[in-house]
Amino acid sequence: MSPFTVTRTLPADATAAALRSDVLHGLTRDPKQLPPKWFYDAHGSELFEDITRLPEYYPTRAEREILTHRAGDIAQATGARTLVELGSGSSEKTRYLLEALAGLTAYVPVDVSESALTQAGESLLAEHPELTVHALVADFQSGLTLPETPGPRLIAFLGGTIGNLLPDERAVFLSAVSSLMTPGDFLLLGTDLVKDERTLVAAYDDSAGVTAAFNKNVLTVMNRELEADFDPDAFDHVALWDAENEWIEMRLRARTAMTAKVRALDLAVSFAEGEELRTEVSAKFREYRVRAELGAAGLELRRWWTDEEGRFALSLASTADGR
Ligand code: SAH
Ligand code: AVI
Repeated sequence: MSPFTVTRTLPADATAAALRSDVLHGLTRDPKQLPPKWFYDAHGSELFEDITRLPEYYPTRAEREILTHRAGDIAQATGARTLVELGSGSSEKTRYLLEALAGLTAYVPVDVSESALTQAGESLLAEHPELTVHALVADFQSGLTLPETPGPRLIAFLGGTIGNLLPDERAVFLSAVSSLMTPGDFLLLGTDLVKDERTLVAAYDDSAGVTAAFNKNVLTVMNRELEADFDPDAFDHVALWDAENEWIEMRLRARTAMTAKVRALDLAVSFAEGEELRTEVSAKFREYRVRAELGAAGLELRRWWTDEEGRFALSLASTADGR
């Protein structure tokens, strides 16, 4: 069997320091907010996988439909020998790319969730023993360095996870990805598309309550990692459509006035009754905006594919000067 390495590009204490800093800044500002990457401990990663199977959560099925039809075109257009995947999670949809990319030698999944990377890497290698898998436990927003692997490279960012970054974060992120790309490399980007509010809100407020549990998992992460005492039952899950920004927001709304302690930070966090903590934005896109954001990062949209119902898009981009 080919090598499977898991590399932490950030030492574990750097992750802990980042969580402390995000909690300190996010819970002492008004309105309160946290970045969504802290959902994904082992339990959060499992809850996300459950979300992908919910009847209301269409993005995974829509993106899979596109990959089923287009993996061959992607392979032909890119001829990739290395597949880098940012926020790879379970790598479940990646299988369509791995099957189609005939000359592929290396797979580089990148994720903050070590449990997701280990599980995915082991099962992928069983199916593709010819591949070298270099898993990176890393934050794709903090100065990513990729291992030396054969080019051309295809950098995949699937699932619509780019929508979980705020617009200014997306600009920084896309420029960083662009600067990693050399002649012949491509970016494959999954984006969820603007659609009717009912469909969108249902996808983030499912009837089985799985998304609510996923949202509240960030409280459990803070309780465990920062010796906090948030009571998940004291908060309501909120999902709403912000039509101006064209994004879904997930929030946790305090049912009553309360104060939670975060012992590791020596911090007391007070909530008024009904006060909300924003835990995630999930931006929805239109083609012109994807093209513009790629363009601002020096990338050009070469191909645009949607599922039959036009719910989700996959874009293929390369550097703007056609290198
Ligand atoms: N690509 C998969 C998983 C999407 S879930 C799919 O399409 O189904 C989002 C994934 O991104 C999770 O596995 C999460 O752990 C990871 N993630 C979120 N923020 C991250 C960050 N800043 N750096 C690296 N990984 C991140
Ligand atoms: C990972 N990301 C694209 C998901 C989304 O749809 O924004 C995370 C998620 N949040 C709630 N449900 C799913």
